[in-house]
Formats: sequence, structure tokens, C-alpha cells
Amino acid sequence: MANQDDTFKKVISHAKEYGYVFQSSEIYDGLSAVYDYAQNGAELKKNIRDYWWRAMVQMNENIVGIDAAIFMHPTTWKASGHVDAFNDPLIDNKDSKKRYRADVLVEDFREKISEKIEKDVAKAKKRFGDAFDEAQFRDTNPNVKRRQAQIDDITERLTKVQEDEDLEGFKQLIIDLGIVCPLSGSKNWTDVKQFNLMFGTKLGASAESAMDLYLRPETAQGIFVNFLNVQKTSRLKIPFGIAQTGKAFRNEIVARQFIFRMREFEQMEMQFFIKPGTQAEWYKHWKETRLKWHLSLGMGEENYRFHDHEKLAHYADAAADIEFKFPFGFKELEGIHSRTDFDLSQHESFSGKKLQYFDHEENKSYVPYVLETSIGLDRMFLAVFSKALQEEELENGTTRTVLKLPSVLAPVKAAILPLVKKDGLPEIARTIVEQLKWDFNVTYDEKDAVGRRYRRQDANGTPFCITVDHDTKDDNTVTLRYRDSMAQKRVKIEDLNAIIKKEVDVRHWLEKM
Ligand code: GAP
Repeated sequence: MANQDDTFKKVISHAKEYGYVFQSSEIYDGLSAVYDYAQNGAELKKNIRDYWWRAMVQMNENIVGIDAAIFMHPTTWKASGHVDAFNDPLIDNKDSKKRYRADVLVEDFREKISEKIEKDVAKAKKRFGDAFDEAQFRDTNPNVKRRQAQIDDITERLTKVQEDEDLEGFKQLIIDLGIVCPLSGSKNWTDVKQFNLMFGTKLGASAESAMDLYLRPETAQGIFVNFLNVQKTSRLKIPFGIAQTGKAFRNEIVARQFIFRMREFEQMEMQFFIKPGTQAEWYKHWKETRLKWHLSLGMGEENYRFHDHEKLAHYADAAADIEFKFPFGFKELEGIHSRTDFDLSQHESFSGKKLQYFDHEENKSYVPYVLETSIGLDRMFLAVFSKALQEEELENGTTRTVLKLPSVLAPVKAAILPLVKKDGLPEIARTIVEQLKWDFNVTYDEKDAVGRRYRRQDANGTPFCITVDHDTKDDNTVTLRYRDSMAQKRVKIEDLNAIIKKEVDVRHWLEKM
């Protein structure tokens, strides 16, 4: 069985080889934690964005979408708390000169203990078979109990130093746990320092009049400052939501793990404006609804879990992550945050403008509370792509590399292949391309033997191959091959659009929610 590192390396190299993701400015040796989406990647990303937009905006009468600018008035970031509090605690190893996020060092250490528990459980499961009682094992096994106590202790200490912003305590925790630098193996650490993650830039032509700006570190603030404009022009009544997708920028220090943590990335966020006091019920609602959206893609319930935050951000009264099992373990994919009236109240006081809603039922005005769902599009891309990439042993003893992307998200829905490059077959194949391209992104491929072309399309993630052969000329039928099962069936050319649509249509997938 391949280890996590090998699996992840395969994901990265497959993404490059098949035109999904390239390192940015590669010919200049790249720019760290910045990536470009290639011909297939751009399509996959667009399809994920569309799948989210349809579920959030189109399917909900009370949610509308906007597209706010990346540049915002600098006071926005004073009001939101980002200027003062959007910091990461950093620590350097004096021997390797490498800089780390102190919280990530501790979390990774804790995750390793958790992995040991899971290994023990898996071993016991194998040993005891059907008779295995997992809950009882976790409650009683001395090793598991000791490790769980260690995890709980780390979590408690980590939460405390984070809440108290106790930088000395942070360093002490790292020393007490005996955490070593992954590069040098040494425990020779500097003190922990705070580092603001926002990128600054300037607006204006002359040095004297230029205004200091930030590249937005989240899309959410573009929604908050437009809250009243949208409410008035849409005449939506509370509860209602505003959604948007767009770029965000963070000067991440631990910028590793490919597109998991980038310096320029895209978010898909929705702010749901509610009556104060109803936040607990909406928090539950959006946690459940967002998980259902993930599950509708069929990537396996066991690959998701909730993680309730112990340390709450400066704006939240409750928060949870939906974590996904990436090749390097369970990590945050999406955040659900109960943001109270923090943002709108802050913008009221910094702008001097009222941002209140008049509730006709209550006959009074108030600053609404906000429930936020926030997912990284690139992280979702990595989740889908890494889960889809599989190596299968076939019955004839060979292996195939197949990218089992949910067909609704696949960049290319069908490849049309003439069996040979003569006898009029390419011409028929071209007419099929013309017929299908109005409905789907399709491709034409005539190079190499058909078996090799199937493998190429499997690795590319194309859910259907359509082969035109000599019989096609007589009966207007083609062979339709399914990527996942490799099953083949004979179908009429005129039925192709309907057959493919049934499988790749957003409705077919979203109805599972
Ligand atoms: N408006 C709330 C907010 O921005 P967050 O937890 O900082 O909350 C939300 O970010 C989501 O954005 C994360 O769950 C993650 O999917 C994505 N994200 C955050 N930082 C990222 C980064 N550096 N690279 C890629 N995705 C990132």
C-alpha cells in the first residue's frame, strides 16, 4: 500500500501531467504557494463553482449572489478586525532557519497521536472481525486511553495559549511536547511572534497622495458592506443570504501541501442574515445542509467529519469545520461560523452609517446576526481530485490509472473516437462532436489504438467514450463506454445527448441533497 507522501506526490504529478494544475511562473522556477489552473483544471474549477452556486443561489429563493471588488476601502479591514487580529503565531528553528506556524506544529504533533489510535483500532478490528466492539475498545484499551488523554491535554493547553495570546506559553508548549524541526531534527527554537497575513498595496499615482490598501483576505467583507444595498434593492426579508465567489489573498507562512494552502486562492462564501437569538438553529441548519452538499457528490461519508472549534475567531460565537480526508489526513475544507452581529456593528461604528433591518413583524429595527458558510474552491478542487485519482488492478493483471471525478464536475464529459482514421469514420465522429458540443464540453481523439485512447481518457477523468466503428455506417449506433465500470453498450447516435445529460446534469446530483 502506498504511503501518504507517495499518494500525495502522485496527485501533484498527475495534476500537472494531465493539464489540471501548474506551478505559477514555472519557467522562472515558480512562485511559492501560487498555482495556475490549466486547461482541464480551469474547467473542473468552473464546474465546482457552478455546483456550489446552483445549490446556494439558484435553489434558494432567499439567497442572491454578488460579485464585489477585491480592493476595498482600507477602513473595512480596521472595522473587521483584520488589521489588529489577523495574525499567525510564528516560530523559527535556529538550526534549519525554517519558519513554522506554532499552532500547526502542535496540531501536526497531535494528529500523529490520533493516527496511532486509528492504527490500533484498525489492527484490533482486523484481529477480532465481526465480534469487534469499537466503542468498547476505545473506552477500555489502555494504549488508546493514554493517547486520548494526551490529545485532550494538548488541545486544552493549545486553546488556552491561543485564547490568552500567550506567546511564551506557546513556546513552552512546543518545548514540553518535545517537538522537533522536521528539517533539522533539532529543538533549538526562537520565541513565538505574531505576523499579520494581509498583503498591502497602494492606490494612486503619486507617493504623497497614494492610499494604503490591502488585497482582501476574505470575500465576506464585500458582502457585509453591501448588506443594506442588496436588502433594499432585492426587498428580501430576513432570513436571507448573500453569496459570492472570488479571490482572496493571504501571506501564508506555512505555504505547503500544494493547493491546500495558497497565497492567492478563491473562496465561495455565503452570509445568512438572521434575527438575533435564532443563531443556534441556523447554525445547525447550515452545518447539516453544507454536509449534504458534500455528500451529494458521492465521495464517501467516511471521508468527512465535523470539527467544532475550541478557539473561536474574534467574530464568532460558534464555529465548526467540515474536515475532509485529504491524502495527508483529515483537514479543514469548509467553515461554518456563527458571526453574531460583530461585522455589521463594526461597520456601523467605523462608517457612521446605519446597517439595520426593519423587521415588520417585530415592528423594530435591529442589526441582524449572521451565519456564514465559507469554503475554499481550491481546497474543494484538491478534495475532489485527490479522492478521484485511483489505481485499479484489472482482471487481466494490468493496472489502470483512472480519475473517477463525479461526472457532473468532470472537465470533459465525452471523448469521441473513430476506431480507425479512415473509411469515413473520422467524418462521422466529427458530426457527433458537432451534435454534442451544444450541450457538453467534448473532445475528439483519433491518435493511437482505441485501448490506449480509453486509458488516456480514464486518466483524464472523462466519464464517457463514444467509439465510431464500421457498424456505425450501417445502423447509426456507436459504442458508449463508461469510465468507472468500463462497461460498454451499443446506443443510437440520436440518443447520446439524452443519455449523457441524465448522468452529468447538475439536477441529477443535487437532487441527492
Ligand atoms: N470568511 C471566513 C473565512 O475566511 P477561513 O476559515 O479563514 O474563514 C474559509 O477560510 C475557507 O477558505 C477555509 O475553510 C479554506 O477552505 C479556505 N482557505 C483559507 N485559507 C486558505 C488558503 N491559504 N489557501 C486555500 N484555501 C484557503
